[in-house]
Amino acid sequence: MKELFPKDFAWGAATSAYQIEGAACQDGKGESVWDVFCRQPGRVYGGHTGDVACDHYHRFDEDFSIMESLGIRNYRFSFAWPRLLPEGTGAVNQKGLEFYDRLIDSMMAHGIMPHATLFHWDYPYALFCRGGWLNDDSPGWFAEYAELLARRYGDRVKNIFTLNEPQCFIGISCFDTFHAPGIKFPVKDCLAMAHNVMLAHGKSVQAIRASAPGAAIGYAPTGRYYHPASERPYDVEAAREATFDVNEGDWTFSVAWWSDPVILGRYPQKALEQLEPLMPKIKPGDMELISQPIDVYGQNIYNSAPVKAGGSGYEVVPYGPGHAKTGFSWPVTPECLYWAPKYLYERYKLPIVITENGLSAIDTVSLDGKVHDSSRIDYIQKHLLALARAAEDGVDLLGYFHWSLLDNFEWNSGYNERFGLVYVDFQTLERTPKDSAAYYSKVVESNGGSLSGTWGDL
Ligand code: FCB
Repeated sequence: MKELFPKDFAWGAATSAYQIEGAACQDGKGESVWDVFCRQPGRVYGGHTGDVACDHYHRFDEDFSIMESLGIRNYRFSFAWPRLLPEGTGAVNQKGLEFYDRLIDSMMAHGIMPHATLFHWDYPYALFCRGGWLNDDSPGWFAEYAELLARRYGDRVKNIFTLNEPQCFIGISCFDTFHAPGIKFPVKDCLAMAHNVMLAHGKSVQAIRASAPGAAIGYAPTGRYYHPASERPYDVEAAREATFDVNEGDWTFSVAWWSDPVILGRYPQKALEQLEPLMPKIKPGDMELISQPIDVYGQNIYNSAPVKAGGSGYEVVPYGPGHAKTGFSWPVTPECLYWAPKYLYERYKLPIVITENGLSAIDTVSLDGKVHDSSRIDYIQKHLLALARAAEDGVDLLGYFHWSLLDNFEWNSGYNERFGLVYVDFQTLERTPKDSAAYYSKVVESNGGSLSGTWGDL
């Protein structure tokens, strides 16, 4: 079997703290905005909370044994900020520090390499009460937290992502309101928060460099992606333009608003001009701080929309009737893992890690005790073949992390969406690796070689 990915490609699976840990009120952990949000009636599907989640806090060793048996040797997880700093800054919770020591040591004892995300949305409620990202001290708070983590865990954790998807924790949380804190702020305030978030990223990069020299540092945003409706050059150009286009009305979920400052050191010009009257004051030195050099560009990519060249540039093409979709009703578009990495690599010129990609499906345990999730196998196969094509074309790809290792708390959808390679029974907390886990395991073992097999070979 021909290997389809570079040697040393990091095959992994991803999770985040609030979605799997549970133990929300244990061992001195402070509250996060998600703890508070989940208790507000009507916010989360079925009134679900992350109080217990997958109980990974007590069962991580079992979860790492499963990963080891599958041969998945890279794990992207996140630290829960309020578990470590219950008030967000200041006093450190020793039991929190010790928990992550145990977690990291166990992972490594199972032969799994840690890839840590510092912040995956569970913002300390105490800091939210002090103005959260609107407070100009917030970049400093985040840098203090980053420094604590780098000092304590930098000897073992060599791959660090600063922030997960600012598009979500600002865009769909403070502008749209379906994620915590779920409060609508004026655009002017959202822009100020965004600027502070990017300053926080830059300051944390400096803190990590100082305390954990040698760590590879990345950023893990998401965005809206587009693929060309045909491979004719003008459609390819139209999809590239659409991918980085950003306007005053759609900046919150765009790629360029959140990545151009961080990588290129400047806000995208057109949207900046449109938004100028609402922009916070950009102080001298801000853009240099925001664009501290980083080592890898992480990107969470789930789907993309087709685009063709049109009268004034590009035109989004509607998906055809009956287009494939996931359990969440997200469109299935394997092209996203070819075109998005290609366009991102051309623009940002940094090695790329796919920090998340996956789907929710309507999974059930069959009478034979197994979970036959053929739609996930199909998704993995098609998306990874598209990614292999990007590697073949010369995109510098370092790794792929499937979202997710475990079925977990899918934010405002609660436990209603199952994204895991491993099924979790939320009554008994029993874990059952799905058929897709076995499939993915073969892909990992063969470095993509098994992807070209047909259903008969699966
Ligand atoms: C991403 C999030 C991740 C998970 C997946 C499905 O936006 O980063 O936590 O919820 O979507």
